[in-house]
Amino acid sequence: MSRLALFSRSPRETEGLGRLLGSLLGGGAFVALRGELGSGKTCFTRGIVAGAAPTSAHLVASPTFAIMNEYPGAVPVYHFDFYRLTGAFDIAELGFEEYFQGDGICIVEWSERLDELFPEEHLIVTLEHGGEDLRSLTFEAAGPEMDGVLARFAELAKPEKFL
Ligand SMILES: Nc1ncnc2c1ncn2[C@@H]1O[C@H](COP(=O)(O)OP(=O)(O)O)[C@@H](O)[C@H]1O
Ligand SMILES: [Mg+2]
Repeated sequence: MSRLALFSRSPRETEGLGRLLGSLLGGGAFVALRGELGSGKTCFTRGIVAGAAPTSAHLVASPTFAIMNEYPGAVPVYHFDFYRLTGAFDIAELGFEEYFQGDGICIVEWSERLDELFPEEHLIVTLEHGGEDLRSLTFEAAGPEMDGVLARFAELAKPEKFL
């Protein structure tokens, strides 16, 4: 497992970091986003889709009324948002494991709500407010493949620190 922490100073920078990450992700990748409302999860997701499925990037919006949005591309991207789900909701019964274990790229907002269902290979990205337009992004990769992705991302993203 490897970690990386860096800062973003604008929505554009957050989207750019997402785009870089998206360009490095392969089919089957699972990205779990954490962070409060307005921390930039959807902004970062728009970037990931721009990197992984460029023709669909303009479609990215919070799936407020749906639980999942699908963005077509060479590798399809499945964008989940569990904001509206409560603890009483049995996520396992919805059959999302098929997506999580499948060949598309999965991005999950409010992933705090399904820790126990993460595939072995995954990336957790925690976004935090740093005031005004400043956000911190912390990346934690699990599994050899995602470790490799994060290492390449770290080289290209010029991080503040690589732990
Ligand atoms: N550095 C930054 N990165 C991402 N969003 C930022 C940043 N600075 C300001 N913002 C603003 O914060 C909000 C983030 O919204 P959004 O991506 O929908 O958050 P979330 O999905 O986490 O609720 C947007 O209004 C965006 O313009
Ligand atoms: Mg959102």
